[in-house]
Order: sequence, then structure tokens, then C-alpha cells
Amino acid sequence: MKLFDVYSLYDIEPVKGKGNYVYTADGTEYLDLYGGHAVISVGHAHPHYVEAVSEQVAKLGFYSNSVENSLQVRLAEKLGKASGYDDYSLFLCNSGAEANENAIKLASFHSGKSKVLAFGKAFHGRTSGAVAATDNPKIVAPFNRTPNVEFVPLGDIEAVEAKLATEEFCAVLIEGIQGVAGIHCPTDEFLRQLREVTTKYGVSLILDEIQSGYGRTGDFYAHQHAGIRADIVTSAKGIANGFPMGAVLIAPHFEAKKGMLGTTFGGNHLACAAAIAVLDIFEQEQLVKNAREVGEYLLAELRKMPQLKEVRGRGLMIGIEIEGSASEMRLRLLKEHHIFTGGTGVSTVRLLPALTITRREADKFLEAFKNILNE
Ligand SMILES: Cc1ncc(COP(=O)(O)O)c(C=O)c1O
Repeated sequence: MKLFDVYSLYDIEPVKGKGNYVYTADGTEYLDLYGGHAVISVGHAHPHYVEAVSEQVAKLGFYSNSVENSLQVRLAEKLGKASGYDDYSLFLCNSGAEANENAIKLASFHSGKSKVLAFGKAFHGRTSGAVAATDNPKIVAPFNRTPNVEFVPLGDIEAVEAKLATEEFCAVLIEGIQGVAGIHCPTDEFLRQLREVTTKYGVSLILDEIQSGYGRTGDFYAHQHAGIRADIVTSAKGIANGFPMGAVLIAPHFEAKKGMLGTTFGGNHLACAAAIAVLDIFEQEQLVKNAREVGEYLLAELRKMPQLKEVRGRGLMIGIEIEGSASEMRLRLLKEHHIFTGGTGVSTVRLLPALTITRREADKFLEAFKNILNE
């Protein structure tokens, strides 16, 4: 059997990771400013993480959601405290798309309404409801197309209000920062207006913090910079540092009913041990603060480079708009300087490093990037 050929691959295979570096079999070292697509939050093979996951798998890797699991309770307590959402409830699943799927379901169950309002260029995942709320016709199969999702431009509060006034919508779904679109931040003012207008019409505000959350922007969730609270927050990616996990944070006004949501694997023992270890490391190493400081430094230094068209983002979620081709730039960074970066669109280089990145590692990237730009 061969692999279903849906990914464009670099001809490089990392077989080992340590901190902010990955290594190929011949020992070549690569600085990882991509974090496997914003997934590696506490660095590769962090000793505390390795120990916690190893100990748990040796004890009990999995049992179903039909029995008590105190690891889930511990994770909920820790996540509540770390995120400032300690009065919310937690539902655990396995991926970002699944978290959004469950968030939409909850809003729909709660209101009895079926429509979701999303934004131009949004990406929310590839399962049925999540992909319907994703503004990219190329990945929406005919089966996924539905009149239940409508789109308005990001930042257009009048367009939002006009839709919500129809009283057909159960939810507004928005990314804390649009990632796949190329790092586009909604303004704090727009997020506050969105909070007001969703409250006015009794519509659930769902914040997709799958890429922008978990400390990446220097606050636990990106929307918290605007001082608002969402009705539902979705998390995944960095939550368990590469162990598949998704989470839905749910406001107290949503009533849980037995069987309304469910999953076989979600919240399993191994995933919880991994996620608890991540939050331990966040605390011990003050990683949210580090993300803010190194992120601000990177943004400031990049904004000094006159060759760049635009530098967008917050903390360690950075989009660099260059003059030429982003894929060529990324390939040169990889092959000539041994640095992994992300990309999106034709001309945006994306930085999504682990929250453990140091200023020295940031400088290593800045120097390599400058060298290429100045050639
Ligand atoms: C904002 C956002 N939402 C949802 C998803 C989907 O997450 P997953 O691939 O874990 O299903 C992603 C993945 O890139 C994302 O960036």
C-alpha cells in the first residue's frame, strides 16, 4: 500500500527533537520556527513531558469515558486557572476541527437555531461543520456545502449585525487571529463590538483559539487582549505538545445533558497526562511571558526591515509579507540555514515556534532572513 498523496513534502525527515531543534538521521540540526504547525508548545522532548507521558503509558494509556478519570478533572482545574476561564466547563476531544464541530453543536442545541456566521478567509478545520465554516471552496466538498453557514468580511460589524438581526443564527465563529489566511488580527475594537452585538441578539460567540491560543500571543487566548469573554472557546494544537487533543471551554449558561456530546478517544489518560505536563511547564518556565517578550522582540526587529511589505501578528504568531515567493524563501531558509518556517498564500512566511524559543534563537533566524533579503 502507498500513502494517499495529499501533502506537499520537503525531502527532509526529522527523526529526533530536542528543545527548539529537530534532527535528521545523519545528525543535521534544524531550528524549528514552525513547531509542526503551531503544535509544539513546550519544545521537543521536554524532560518533564517525556517523563509524564512515559509514566502514564506504563500505568494506563486508555480507558473509555464510561468511568471516572481524575486526570480529566485535574486538567480542567489547571486549564481553568491558566486561562482565566475557571467558571467554565471542559469537554475534551481529539482535534481542532472536532472541537469546533462540538462548539457549533452546543450553540445550536442551546438556541434551537441552525445558522452559523463566519468570516471571509476563515479556517476552522476539515470535518463537516468546521469545513463548511471555512472560506475555501477548494476543500469544501459538495456534501459539506450548506446554507447553514454564511460569511461576512472580517471587521465589518454592520454586516454582522445585519445577519444577526434575522434571528436565524445560533453562533458567530471567529479565529482569535486568522492563521491559515496569513495572520490577520481582528482589531480589539471589532472583538468588543462583536461581543456586544452577539449578546444583544442572544447569539453564542465562539472563539476558535486553536492556532492563536494556548499562550502563543502572550495572553492565554488571543481574544483576551481585547478584554472580552467568549461563550465558547476551542483549543487544540499546543494543548498536549503533539499528542492529539482538542478542548471546548463552555460558559456556565450551557446546560449539559447526558449523551449530547461524546467521543471514544477524547480526554483519554495519555492525552490528559500530556496536557497536564504542558501546563506544568507553562507555569514552571513562565512560557506565556516568554512568548510575549520574544514575540514582541521578533515583531519589532522584523518591522525594522525595509525590504518587507508588511509584518502582522502578535507574540509568537507572526506573518511576514515578502516581495517574492514565500515558498522559495522558506526553502532557502531550510536548505541554506537549516531553519523550518511556515507559509501560507503566495508571499507570507509564518512563524509559529514553540513558546520556549529564546532571544538567541530568534536572532539566529533574523540574521539568516536578513542575509537572504540583502542578496
Ligand atoms: C484556527 C484553526 N481552527 C481549526 C483548525 C483545525 O485543527 P485540526 O487540524 O487539529 O483539526 C486549525 C488547524 O490548522 C486552525 O488553524
